[in-house]
Amino acid sequence: MSSKVRIGIIGVGGIGKTNGRALDANSRGEVTALCDIIPKRMDEFEQELGRPMRKYPDFRDLCRDPEVDAVFVGTPNQVHVPAALEAVRCGKHVMCTKPLSDSLGPAVQLVREAEAAGKVNMMSLSTRFSPNCLYLKQKVRDGFFGDIYYGRARSIRRSGIPDWNLGFIEAGGGAFRDMGVHVLDAAWWLSGMPKPIVATGVAGAKFGPRGLGYSAFRVPPEEYWRKYDSDDYAGGFIRFENGLGLQVESFWASHMPPDVQVELFGAEGGATMRPVRLYTTEHGAPKDVSVEIPKAWSGPWENVAGHYIDCILDGIECMAPLRHGMMVQAMLEAVLRSAATGREVLLEELLPE
Ligand SMILES: NC(=O)c1ccc[n+]([C@@H]2O[C@H](COP(=O)([O-])OP(=O)(O)OC[C@H]3O[C@@H](n4cnc5c(N)ncnc54)[C@H](O)[C@@H]3O)[C@@H](O)[C@H]2O)c1
Repeated sequence: MSSKVRIGIIGVGGIGKTNGRALDANSRGEVTALCDIIPKRMDEFEQELGRPMRKYPDFRDLCRDPEVDAVFVGTPNQVHVPAALEAVRCGKHVMCTKPLSDSLGPAVQLVREAEAAGKVNMMSLSTRFSPNCLYLKQKVRDGFFGDIYYGRARSIRRSGIPDWNLGFIEAGGGAFRDMGVHVLDAAWWLSGMPKPIVATGVAGAKFGPRGLGYSAFRVPPEEYWRKYDSDDYAGGFIRFENGLGLQVESFWASHMPPDVQVELFGAEGGATMRPVRLYTTEHGAPKDVSVEIPKAWSGPWENVAGHYIDCILDGIECMAPLRHGMMVQAMLEAVLRSAATGREVLLEELLPE
């Protein structure tokens, strides 16, 4: 391998370009290949990066390119596992955007093969790698919280159903897999990733199938929203082996103010993530601290890109392997199955040992 990691971007849309820019800006990484079913997207990004790229309309060809060491998968949910599996089978390092998959079965298969392949496998998680979340993780390590026994995680939009690719609203898409995934992952990771035991939840679509609630109050063409086949809200509760209870909510559209938040309740201290506030009791009196995260700190995308490249070149332990994405997917699917069946769902039904 050359001194720089040569990276191929599969899916050159919004998130493919965001990750691609950060990977290319890293002094030890360079984007060398692009793949998209829409050729114009590759041409435009090639122009932006300012040098010739190897361009492929089919991800299988990018994965076979010997000049590519590692890939980033940024396609719609339904194509994450097919593209990532192909990369793993071709011996590439692989990083995938969230959610890991559109369902649990393919996610399990990908993790099995990726771990056996012995290459770096990683989730690109903008919330876990955000400065606020990393700061709170340090507070966890410092012992600030003591036992974290309860959490609340929510992501609420007023009118924010994505209207730029059908993958978001077709089966395997939905608000919970799109946004619930971020806050659920952050709360679970900060809480020490305990084993989930049982989930209950509700979910539905109150806006999307009526042509309402789309991004920035836009109204997409009727032939788009007639294909609506996923949730636009979901709320659930997950109980863990260590006694932790976690409430998680996600709304793509609602008659509520927008809000993205993770709240952790610890026996010694509590905290919110956005903004970072720490709550404890000192000498019998409440003590609340507002933490101003310095603007100069590196942002999530820089952190994600840097970590992927460090894992590949320096062999450091990955702090966000695909296995974590699979566990979060299992929790998402358990809540959604509970909503569909009207009963509690044991995680062991979905994810045998
Ligand atoms: N913060 C985050 O981590 C974050 C933010 C936004 C989106 N995402 C995730 O990124 C994914 C894509 O979202 P987006 O907003 O970038 O969508 P997008 O529509 O802007 O980009 C997806 C791209 O994938 C391409 N594509 C579709 N099928 C393909 C295939 N078979 N092979 C190659 N390319 C293909 C599309 O043409 C498009 O250019 C979603 O899974 C979403 O959940 C993550």
